[in-house]
Amino acid sequence: MPRVTFVEINGALREVDVAPGSTVLEAAKAHDLPLAGTCGGSMVCATCHVMIEAEDRAKLPPPSEDEENTLDLAFGVTADSRLGCQIKLTDAMHGIRIRLTSTMHQA
Ligand code: FES
Repeated sequence: MPRVTFVEINGALREVDVAPGSTVLEAAKAHDLPLAGTCGGSMVCATCHVMIEAEDRAKLPPPSEDEENTLDLAFGVTADSRLGCQIKLTDAMHGIRIRLTSTMHQA
């Protein structure tokens, strides 16, 4: 079971065990972390915007073109930006840090 660390907007760290195969969005909701995910993973809202730093990004598959297009709706997008609903957590991702962001977006 992968263990990941969520970094809340105020900098607080929450280390949680997640069910393998669950998405970052599902893991956040399971642990009452503030990640909106308004569209439920349909890639139309970008309110599941999270940041994953480069050293951890190497453990993730790259974003699809659709994910990148939806990220364009998010506020404050950087090279670290990903959609939490599109990242399935596996044992290979054990130890990654997932930084929560403001759920404001431009749509
Ligand atoms: Fe809407 Fe991820 S939950 S894009």
